[in-house]
Amino acid sequence: MFEDFLKMTLQDFIPKAYKNSIKKGSYTWSSPSNIALVKYWGKRDPQIPENPSISFTLDHCKTTTTLSFSKKQEKNDFSFEIYLDGDKKESFKPKIETFFKRVADYLPFLKDYHFVIETSNSFPHSSGIASSASGMSALSLCLMSIEKELNEDVSDAFFIQKASFLARLGSGSACRSLEGDLVVWGQHDAINGSSDLYGVKYPFEVHENFKNYRDTILLVDKGEKQVSSTVGHNLMHDHPFAKERFDQAKTNLERLIPILKEGDLEAFIKIVESEALTLHAMMMTSMPYFILMKPNTLEIINKIWAFREKTDSKICFTLDAGANVHVLYPAYESDQVSEFIKNELVAFCQKGHYISDRIGFGANQLTMKN
Ligand code: DP6
Repeated sequence: MFEDFLKMTLQDFIPKAYKNSIKKGSYTWSSPSNIALVKYWGKRDPQIPENPSISFTLDHCKTTTTLSFSKKQEKNDFSFEIYLDGDKKESFKPKIETFFKRVADYLPFLKDYHFVIETSNSFPHSSGIASSASGMSALSLCLMSIEKELNEDVSDAFFIQKASFLARLGSGSACRSLEGDLVVWGQHDAINGSSDLYGVKYPFEVHENFKNYRDTILLVDKGEKQVSSTVGHNLMHDHPFAKERFDQAKTNLERLIPILKEGDLEAFIKIVESEALTLHAMMMTSMPYFILMKPNTLEIINKIWAFREKTDSKICFTLDAGANVHVLYPAYESDQVSEFIKNELVAFCQKGHYISDRIGFGANQLTMKN
């Protein structure tokens, strides 16, 4: 039954014959990163999440990608080059090749063109901040711009939905980066329109407390990831606590609905911090096991808890699959929390580096030239 539903929906993303033909062109999109409140950790082929997740879209942390394309004679293979900040990046090619293979059925023009992908991030590549969400969403949007030129009938809503669908096939969390300010990915009965195939804007009321929320990212460890997210997700397959974890994520997402509506910051903190620690607990209890937090991650967490005790601030933390700490707080606490971060937390950051970000509203098209 579920499989039928999935198949039927997948068909919707396979385009009918294109009306127009284009020789060459170029599109530029910029797309932000996002930070999950309820975490996606565990997936099945093809990039189907084991549980629904929800994230805040970020604003300053973003990737800008220009995709130039020109028609080629041979149509046997994918043909592309990729540049980061102007430097050719052979090391990025396998990930893009895998992405192209996964999306080829949905973008039949992929083998007709040679592509030049020029990408840059607003944050340093070595910051330990994953660029896959922002990068894959920006690239997917550029590809959708080509599809729209080949077939103008593509509606704005479908454009974003299919870009999210494609981004998911590049990197799961990327499908939550196209819009803002809160996006859900993964089917959940309590969230209208939610799907395993693409992200949807959170459809319910959100209290003023959560508008313009801040995220200061403390760069504790800028090194290469110890474990790639794909390896990490796969460790959930034979994980002893997998079922409980997936159920817990579903419950946490449902619990967030009244919390977001009523602006209940204390209840929000409990869910968000528990999700972060559960994500790391899953890594610590998988086989093989990993500890991705560093001593300074724990120092920061303890400082945040002590500050909350002392001041009744509603600051909290969340973590990705790494040692960096995302410090989340309402906009009206900005002055007070900035002082605290400078005085007490920056000392635990590598070279004192951190990034001040806030909730944003998704991707933007920058140029359109042919
Ligand atoms: C811990 O989206 O990077 O950030 O689908 O394998 O590319 P792939 O994984 P990815 O996983 C992100 C996991 C997370 C939690 C989250 O963003 O929900």
